[in-house]
Amino acid sequence: MTQMKAAITAVHGYVPEDIMTNHDLEKLVDTNDEWIRTRTGIEQRHILKGEGKGTSDMAVEAVRGLCEKRGIDPTDIDLLICATVTPDFTFPATANVITDKVGATNAWGFDIIAACSGFIYALSVGAQFIETGKYKKVVVVGADKMSSIIDYSDRATCIIFGDGAGAVLLEANNEGLGIIDSVMKSDGSGRAFLHQKAGGSVKPASHATVDAREHSVYQDGKTVFKYAVVNMADVSVEIMERNNLTSEDITWLVPHQANKRIIDATASRMGVSEDKVMMNIHRYGNTTAGTIPLCLHDWEKQLKKGDNLVLSAFGGGFTWGAVYVKWAYDSKS
Ligand code: UT7
Repeated sequence: MTQMKAAITAVHGYVPEDIMTNHDLEKLVDTNDEWIRTRTGIEQRHILKGEGKGTSDMAVEAVRGLCEKRGIDPTDIDLLICATVTPDFTFPATANVITDKVGATNAWGFDIIAACSGFIYALSVGAQFIETGKYKKVVVVGADKMSSIIDYSDRATCIIFGDGAGAVLLEANNEGLGIIDSVMKSDGSGRAFLHQKAGGSVKPASHATVDAREHSVYQDGKTVFKYAVVNMADVSVEIMERNNLTSEDITWLVPHQANKRIIDATASRMGVSEDKVMMNIHRYGNTTAGTIPLCLHDWEKQLKKGDNLVLSAFGGGFTWGAVYVKWAYDSKS
């Protein structure tokens, strides 16, 4: 008998209306469109504007779209996991806010903090609840309002991030389709190179922390790049080898969108050609936990039942990993 798998049965994404182009950034910091495009592949990013708007507002759009597509009511959701580093509040969890706003009154939920690997961490956690048979409908959200923690005077960091959200629905599959394998890694010693210095229990907010701009992302970009480029490629190759996948077997690489150069290096190590790589970094920049579900959303119509997808990410923590997914449905249109 085929072992029950957790399959993605619907996906939806959302980016806010307002766009910040590279040329807009030229007015804020000493940078230029050519540098940003050639060093990162980014041309623009979407920014959530409006008083009182937070990460949950983008996630809500993604979850509502998901339910509509799948033809389910939010009350059918059993569990909602939200991956984010920009929660609406320190507590309660953004998952609680999302379930309330969408009317998922029968769901419980929690947040996962794993930065850019947040979505794949949450996906591998959510899958367990389906595989055990405990729940029937698990929603996994990746959402970040990065603009809320970006210092728009730090040219090395502000250029890569944007805001966005994506969500998938997980349901049981008995045809051998869904999440087949995952490899998750972390190395906390990497925290020195990518973190937010203040606002946690180690350094609570004070006038001094605000004056020192310590509530924004601190990134030693060069060092993070060095680790990302090696580890994202290594873990992607590891998941291929564990599952006896050749580059020909892979239909799509779905990489975290932090820097086009990291994505290209990963694809090249895997032997996967450019036409099999989902890449929307030029439109959205790095939306942290949002990048991978936003790729799935943008490519959904091209995905076919049985397609082999490798999702892979690297991010703050350090955290990294890869997930092997056999796509479970053909798009309706
Ligand atoms: O998403 C999760 C994890 N994050 C990542 O994976 C990000 C990894 N890091 C990166 O993507 C890259 O390190 C960045 C895009 C952040 C920076 O690119 P880089 O090629 O590593 O630049 P760099 O920091 O080595 O700087 C090279 C030069 C420096 O000038 P000098 O010292 O060579 O004269 C910088 O001052 O580029 C300069 N520079 C800029 N110039 C124009 C740095 N930022 C900018 C800028 N515009 N925005």
